[in-house]
Amino acid sequence: MKVIESIAEMRQLRQQLREPVGFVPTMGYLHKGHMSLVRQARNENKSVVVSIFVNPTQFGPKEDFKGYPRDTQRDLAMLEAVTDIVFMPSVAEMYPEGFDSRVEVGEITGRLEGASRPGHFRGVTTVVAKLFNIVQPTKAYFGQKDAQQAVIIKKMAADLDMNLEVVTCPTVREPDGLAMSSRNTYLNPEERRAAAVIYGSLKLAQERWSEGERNADRIRKEMTELIEKEPLADIDYISIADAESLEELDRVEPPALVSMAVRIGKTRLIDNMVLE
Ligand code: PAF
Repeated sequence: MKVIESIAEMRQLRQQLREPVGFVPTMGYLHKGHMSLVRQARNENKSVVVSIFVNPTQFGPKEDFKGYPRDTQRDLAMLEAVTDIVFMPSVAEMYPEGFDSRVEVGEITGRLEGASRPGHFRGVTTVVAKLFNIVQPTKAYFGQKDAQQAVIIKKMAADLDMNLEVVTCPTVREPDGLAMSSRNTYLNPEERRAAAVIYGSLKLAQERWSEGERNADRIRKEMTELIEKEPLADIDYISIADAESLEELDRVEPPALVSMAVRIGKTRLIDNMVLE
């Protein structure tokens, strides 16, 4: 496994990789969710590139860029056996003096996470477009946990004729259902217990859907009531939307994306489930 910090060297080594090339972009502090993407990339390609870059442009001014968990040595040890190249550029390498371009997807970036985190997706699409240009993967892998991110990146790749396939992989969960996330590390033991209510509310939505409930407001209301019973939880949004346009639904038609952002103490967590 080679660890590379410069764009020029990444480009050079890219030429020597066996095709097809699978790519997993990450912000590091890897967990089983990331590793499932890397394993799928390994299974479906001859070469695997993983990037580790905590991208400052996707964090808002009051968000956790500085405190975002980092542990490069641990990350590299986890990747060693399954990765050909780890691309780990510095902020100055990705955004040199004078950098002044953005890649922006339209309407769908204003909804859900985009409504709560203005500018977030512009930062994501700009850095992912740069990474795609540098790594030139055959396939790139993203987690379903960041459902809106995956939809937006697929749209960017299609709209801008990027020559790759964007693959979405299932969410990996803890035994109590909490979606794996690097931010789970912020939770103290009491908050960690409380966070299980998020998956509980998704399961409730799925149960109601299986029983034949199609009124989106009624499902949103029941989810809200369940979460509000947990004193440490504070809802940012609960959405039942069309899985592609991300427009809110009155009547639940499959595939519908049930998604939410909930603060547990100071930690903002997101999760979702698709009703099909
Ligand atoms: O999902 C993430 O970790 C990030 O948003 C990504 C795709 C690596 C871009 O910085």
